[in-house]
Amino acid sequence: MTLPADDLTDPATPPTGADLRRGPFRAGDRVQLTDPKGRLHTITLEPGKTFHTHRGHVRHDDLIGAPDGTVVQHSSGADYLALRPLLSDYVLSMPRGAQVVYPKDAGQIVTYADIFPGATVVEAGVGSGALSMSLLRAVGDQGRLYSFERRADFAEIAQANGRAFFGTDHPAWTVTLGDLVEMLPVTCAPGSVDRVVLDMLAPWECLDVVGEALAPGGVLICYVATTTQLSRVAETARRAGGWTEPVAWESLVRGWHLEGLSVRPEHRMHGHTGFLVTLRRLAPGVDAPLRKKRPAPGAYGEDYTPVVEEEWSPEDLGERPVSDKRLRRTARDARATADARGSDGIPDEAPEEGEQP
Ligand SMILES: C[S@@+](CC[C@H](N)C(=O)[O-])C[C@H]1O[C@@H](n2cnc3c(N)ncnc32)[C@H](O)[C@@H]1O
Repeated sequence: MTLPADDLTDPATPPTGADLRRGPFRAGDRVQLTDPKGRLHTITLEPGKTFHTHRGHVRHDDLIGAPDGTVVQHSSGADYLALRPLLSDYVLSMPRGAQVVYPKDAGQIVTYADIFPGATVVEAGVGSGALSMSLLRAVGDQGRLYSFERRADFAEIAQANGRAFFGTDHPAWTVTLGDLVEMLPVTCAPGSVDRVVLDMLAPWECLDVVGEALAPGGVLICYVATTTQLSRVAETARRAGGWTEPVAWESLVRGWHLEGLSVRPEHRMHGHTGFLVTLRRLAPGVDAPLRKKRPAPGAYGEDYTPVVEEEWSPEDLGERPVSDKRLRRTARDARATADARGSDGIPDEAPEEGEQP
């Protein structure tokens, strides 16, 4: 039996981006070079080009056609290891507008928000698009990811990063410019969304529209940087009703040094990235059964000031403004990688060895 050419179950039609993850290096591929000191350099292969360091260069032509996992010689004689970056490497080295969700948190979001193939998922904000890529991989070509971003410059960087990673505009991805509170109700019908992922300063301001869009039983997961944000999400949801009790956690990942008898934790680690909190949407008109356990003594005592009533500013929550000049440069770099898949002038923000959480 012959399958139609557009049948996505046909092994000859790989899922979007899968063919770029395999096989020998091709022109346009991003390649991660590790130098003898363990430093990472990300380049995009282009025939005839060279990657320069202060001691000499590596020729792109020596890599094009070579298998992934190759050692290439630098003009100084040093060996450089060449590997295709994994998604977790890519998001840490790609051009960034906003702070990205780290791979350890992206993995937990996909698992604990139960992002499944074919799901309809809403995400806000898009930022640099790092989390979007994990979500797109999880929903697959037959799912839907509706991402909302209120800043046009960030949305442009994210879309260029996605195009560079998947090699094309991912068919499941729609990026909508605007505030989630305004745009979600006009984009997704009530009860039509399976999962919502919020990575923004004030997710509590979006709970009403998210609750409306989510199907009964749907999952909301919020990624927040501070305890005040965490508390505000939880208390706003409790006050509103229609949600399960929030479940919150943080995760610390400690890398290990592995060398002969020197097997020990790395000296440095990312002590804090963010907190995750999940809630599930109840059916219309249903409120969660009263908790059997009473709140801890003093939890809502006379010293308790409901954080939901406090005014806040982005600076209060630790947000640092990014200069327009830097953003223009980042957007230019992201566009160059996506369009040509053939420029090696991208500023390398790759982490030092052992730094990736
Ligand atoms: C930390 S970034 C998101 C990073 C992204 N998850 C990633 O991994 O690259 C937060 C983004 O949310 C956007 N944002 C904040 N509030 C928003 C809202 N109400 N609607 C849409 N976007 C919003 C901001 O402009 C910012 O780009």
